[in-house]
Amino acid sequence: MSRPPTQHQDLLAWVGQVCALCQPDHVVWCDGSEEEDRRLRQVMVESGSALRLNEQKRPNCLLVRSDPRDVARVEKRTFICSRTKEEAGPTNNWEDPAEMKAKMSGLYAGCMRRRTMYIIPFSMGPVGSKIARIGVEITDSPYVVVNMRIMTRIGQRVLEVLGPDGSYVKCLHSVGRPLADGDKDVPWPCNPENTCVAHFPEERLIMSYGSGYGGNALLGKKCLALRIASAIGRDEGWMAEHMLILGLETPDGKKSYVTAAFPSACGKTNFAMLVPPAALKDYKVTTVGDDIAWIQPGPDGTPRAINPEAGWFGVAPGTSYRTNPNAMESCRKDSIFTNVALTDDGDVWWEGMTEEPPAHLISWLGEDWTPGCGRPSSHPNARFTAPARNCPCIDPEWENPHGVPIDAIIFGGRRMNDIPLVFETRDWNHGTFVGATLASEQTAAAEGKVGALRRDPMAMLPFCGYHMGDYFRHWLEMGETFGAKKPRIFHVNWFRKDGNGKFFWPGFGENLRVLAWIVARCRGEAAGRPSALGTMPDYCDLPWEGLDYPEKRFGALMSEDSATLAEQMHSNDEFFANLGGKCPPELKAEEAKTLEQLA
Ligand code: GTP
Ligand code: SPV
Ligand code: MN
Repeated sequence: MSRPPTQHQDLLAWVGQVCALCQPDHVVWCDGSEEEDRRLRQVMVESGSALRLNEQKRPNCLLVRSDPRDVARVEKRTFICSRTKEEAGPTNNWEDPAEMKAKMSGLYAGCMRRRTMYIIPFSMGPVGSKIARIGVEITDSPYVVVNMRIMTRIGQRVLEVLGPDGSYVKCLHSVGRPLADGDKDVPWPCNPENTCVAHFPEERLIMSYGSGYGGNALLGKKCLALRIASAIGRDEGWMAEHMLILGLETPDGKKSYVTAAFPSACGKTNFAMLVPPAALKDYKVTTVGDDIAWIQPGPDGTPRAINPEAGWFGVAPGTSYRTNPNAMESCRKDSIFTNVALTDDGDVWWEGMTEEPPAHLISWLGEDWTPGCGRPSSHPNARFTAPARNCPCIDPEWENPHGVPIDAIIFGGRRMNDIPLVFETRDWNHGTFVGATLASEQTAAAEGKVGALRRDPMAMLPFCGYHMGDYFRHWLEMGETFGAKKPRIFHVNWFRKDGNGKFFWPGFGENLRVLAWIVARCRGEAAGRPSALGTMPDYCDLPWEGLDYPEKRFGALMSEDSATLAEQMHSNDEFFANLGGKCPPELKAEEAKTLEQLA
């Protein structure tokens, strides 16, 4: 074991216990240095678990192919182990904390034999920021270390802030594949049969076993920054949300920040890095975050948001210089690609990156691939891990330790049939109701049937670390905390389809037109007309420069079918009933109000 670089007794004791349990051959305290990063990448390349990409085309980049059984978050095996089942609520899997720990300890026993155990001190949020939180992840996966180095701030500087007795979240991770003497390791060790991601909110503890992929293994992200942090936020009066954060500078030079909650793989990264259409280039969009926002009231109640992460773990397929040039530039160097295809000249490719696919590739499964072969070259949940600092439109305030002030919160999902392009909710409580009843068609970001409509309240269904009814109550209370400074709440839907099955709305950069209206509404500068859902723009309220979008088509895109909407309102009843006594009556009241408007 390298000499522990800390005097923190609780941390040293925990590391000691984990060593005794997992029995690694070597123990490394990660310092976060470039030298360490180079060394670990070398280890991965030499062991055959990563390929170095062409140094000219993708400097300092790796390609990694996972085990095909370990490709996304596993919601069925994700647990919130609060003291009681009631505290976890009906939308989470629950197990008794003592039983879960006993079970996990059995799995962890000897699991790091013949492996190296890495200890990664990390900060979610700028190091030293009052809003930031410290975690320590112990893992046997060098892939996790090199990814955590991009996605969070890691190393010695974090231990310095932690000091001898600071508080931190314990994050234990193992790929769950011990090696016996003489065993040859596999490129992507994992243990799909026994995968388990368990959270202990009272103890601020995370235990993950069996998967090396994304949110299952990079424990700062969904596990700490959402599931554990949402429980901390409830206790301390702030919010941990599955939201992007962006800045919009309007042609008059004014700047506003908004956050947006869209379910997994529904366009947060694209919206966060939006490139305005050429005719509206006097608008500028800058990015603070693409996945998670921590929002805290400032001294005067103003909600201020930080991005607790330091990188993008973005969906690769569909990302191109046309749809998201800023994401493409972010992963041009210093990035890690997982489950994408390899080109003959040592670069990467995925579906949608270019219109013409290359004539030959090696697929994410390591097999030869040609355009007509009938298989995708990349997994639909293939991802790039890219440093936020590489992003050309990164916001100058993105590391401000106090966060940025938030004027609007936007909810959105994939709704093919029914919901109009945009509306503003009546007020905070109505906005909370709209967020609480958010539904979206399922994507490949987690296991499950792609396309099925599922409820995903506030895009937090898989990420809320406590009872969803208490979470709704917390939202309502935050409205009071923010008082006069509370953000306005909007709903958008880029995904509505017309009678021919074509997207009504061109989306991507054109979404700027909607964002411009939203920000103008917040500043009291834009008109709108009342509707059953809230306030909607008329055709003349959006900027149309450079887009020939017929007024009639806009009318159809914005149309509300009262009968369908009323039916949907009633379908909320079952969902709310499922929350038992914990569904705030305010939400039922908002439903009644909407039904009245629809009648
Ligand atoms: P997570 O990282 O999983 O939380 O998801 P995310 O919300 O950041 O997802 P991402 O931005 O990577 O979503 C990508 C998917 O959304 C792709 O399938 C895109 O084609 C699609 N998408 C993004 N923006 C738009 C849009 O404006 N219109 C349409 N039609 N599709 C869009
Ligand atoms: C999501 O699924 O919402 C993600 C990807 O952002 S993962 O980190 O794998 O959860
Ligand atoms: Mn996400």
